[in-house]
Amino acid sequence: MTLGYLSVACYKGDLRRAARFLSLLLTGLALLAVAGYFLLARTTRGWFDSDLALRSRLAVSSARGSLENNLGADRARLTETLADITRDERIMGAAACSLGGELLAATDSYPAEFSCRSVLERMRSEAPEDALSWSMTPELPSGRLHLSVTFIGDAARPRGAVALVHDLSYMTRREETTRNILILAFFVLSLGASLVTLIAARLAWKGWTLALRRALTGNPTTEFQPLIRDVRTLAERLASEREREARGGLWSPERLRSTLTQYLQGERVVILANREPYMHEKTADGITVLHPASGLVTALEPVMRACSGVWVAHGSGSADRDTVDKHDRVLVPPGEESYSVRRVWLNEDEENGYYYGFANEGLWPLCHVAHARPIFRAEDYEHYVTVNRKFADAVCKEVDSDDPIVLVQDYHFGLAPKMIRERLPRATIITFWHTPWPNAERIGICPWRDELISGLLGSSILGFHTQQHCNNFIDSVDAFMESRIDREANAVIQGPRRTVVHPYPISIEWPVHWLSQVPPVAEARVLVRKELGFADDALLGVGIDRLDYTKGIEERLAAVDQLLARYPEFRGKFTFIQLAAPSRTKIPRYRELNERVEAVAAEINAKWSSGSYRPIVLLRSHHEPTAVFRYYRAAELCYVSSLHDGMNLVAKEFVAARDDERGVLVLSQFTGAARDLTEALIVNPYDLRQASDALAAALRMPVEEQTERMRSMRRLVSEFNVYRWAGRMLVDAAELRRKERVTGRLGAAGVFTRTEAV
Ligand code: G6P
Repeated sequence: MTLGYLSVACYKGDLRRAARFLSLLLTGLALLAVAGYFLLARTTRGWFDSDLALRSRLAVSSARGSLENNLGADRARLTETLADITRDERIMGAAACSLGGELLAATDSYPAEFSCRSVLERMRSEAPEDALSWSMTPELPSGRLHLSVTFIGDAARPRGAVALVHDLSYMTRREETTRNILILAFFVLSLGASLVTLIAARLAWKGWTLALRRALTGNPTTEFQPLIRDVRTLAERLASEREREARGGLWSPERLRSTLTQYLQGERVVILANREPYMHEKTADGITVLHPASGLVTALEPVMRACSGVWVAHGSGSADRDTVDKHDRVLVPPGEESYSVRRVWLNEDEENGYYYGFANEGLWPLCHVAHARPIFRAEDYEHYVTVNRKFADAVCKEVDSDDPIVLVQDYHFGLAPKMIRERLPRATIITFWHTPWPNAERIGICPWRDELISGLLGSSILGFHTQQHCNNFIDSVDAFMESRIDREANAVIQGPRRTVVHPYPISIEWPVHWLSQVPPVAEARVLVRKELGFADDALLGVGIDRLDYTKGIEERLAAVDQLLARYPEFRGKFTFIQLAAPSRTKIPRYRELNERVEAVAAEINAKWSSGSYRPIVLLRSHHEPTAVFRYYRAAELCYVSSLHDGMNLVAKEFVAARDDERGVLVLSQFTGAARDLTEALIVNPYDLRQASDALAAALRMPVEEQTERMRSMRRLVSEFNVYRWAGRMLVDAAELRRKERVTGRLGAAGVFTRTEAV
């Protein structure tokens, strides 16, 4: 317990408390030992005295006959008898007294201080009246003695008394020896206990200081590990999936294409997503093509290039109408033309109500735990219904069979799956929700939650990034809908319809095709530093986002501020480049964020800038993918600080860009990506101290460790790429179709009846 207390005190760094406790403990022990010693000495002395009294009585009684015979007669014989008694070396002297106190005989060594008169008087005053013997242990200048007086003769009529004096110096010597041994034992024990305590305390202190040193200076990277549970889940998932897919090899565009042909008879894929992959914009130089900043586009565009088919989207570019054919279609990618985009036009009211209103002021904050209150307006929802129907109609016009495969994307189209199913009952509808799905309690605040959930249950397969989001959805169904839930199969059953709810963590293409147009790492490093006017050895961090409050951009900049405050070595050397693409700027909350981010950056720059050095470079404009990848390659670290994010593909893009196997990813624990990229430095972006420690750790990380982490993350992203994501959904869809065919609902074998549709 003592050790425990001291260790805890030392571990907490309270050494003064530990020392005070140790000295108190030793003093207490010393007092206890002294008290114990005196108690012991008193008790043993008592035992000695009664032993001696007994021995004296025995000595007198053994010579009783001779004593009684010679008592009043022969002084010389009496003296001899007394001398016989004193032959015991510890009996110093003996005297025979008359009852009147007269000395009858005594040995030479009998001390004169004990005259017969004084002894008998003392006995009469101290001993009980009928006592036949009595003793005392006086302390004389010469030492301690034991005096005992025993009557001789008849008990009722004693004739005299014999006084025996024992020399107790031997006992004093023994007591001294015992005391010395005890003191020595106490010191040895105290010393031993102190030593053990000090060693334990020192070890605990050492452990604490080591941890502290590691966190502050040495190698703090172990402090930013993911939960073991997450790593274990990932490892299990990898093992089982690798086993399942060992035969097929890595997922690639070719494998995805052959999956489509093999399992789905080469059926065309129709994607429905609000954001189009290519936007045509009018500029001073004519019409240019833009690649919008959107995780959804990053993931799905390569899939469409591999599969061909149609992408139905909102035509939102200023030159979009000028570039479509009479069916509102345009072939993309420019120059490659492997699939088409079917543009759907929205008027301003529709766009305001459906996109800015219900989708982005209502559902977006509802699904993200980022402390923004959702705003629900009935007019917005009405537009959402109208626009979902408009897009559902467009999809139905684009399909070329009555059992097409339709991929519905994201929170803009919560109602479309049911609407499409109503028109195409035999369609295989795979819906993927790109944002988190909140828990039932939170989803319950949406006034149209039932319609939303029911709309999504029009899907054959409903995908989320994580199992947690799937669970939340199933719980929401449980809470608000009439249905049967098959938890074993993760499915919701309504009448004859079944919706399988499954996690499909989204990813990016591998290899990223943009990289062929981006300079290699060494060159990108030099170029970016030159462009920004920085020294060649400047340290760079990068953040790439849409300007969205869920991304934690303010927290990210604040972490940079903390880094410079707490680690002066990086002042004048480290710059964080934030590429922020303006987004949803019609919404006041986004405009406010824009201003706040600018103010925070300006404040930090004012605090730490010196000469040409600036700690923050804020580039608030759209950047094409090639520019974005150049920054990924130029930086020592990338910090993704989302406050809540379904997946976050910036993290995976950074990993893909670093074919030099260098660079450190600092990643928010609140992203779906943190479950896959466990070798990143995982942080809580709200914890500025921890985040700044992670930035410092990233900047100090030895090259070997960077390589080890980056290599492992690259291996994972290359295997778990977006072709696999899409492939797995398509394979699951094919399996579903096969089952439905077997049960006679689909294709030539079965006749579909209207009642089977929701
Ligand atoms: C998120 C959403 C996507 C959306 C993207 C860009 O990633 O999940 O659906 O496309 O943000 O937002 P925007 O509103 O510009 O399409």
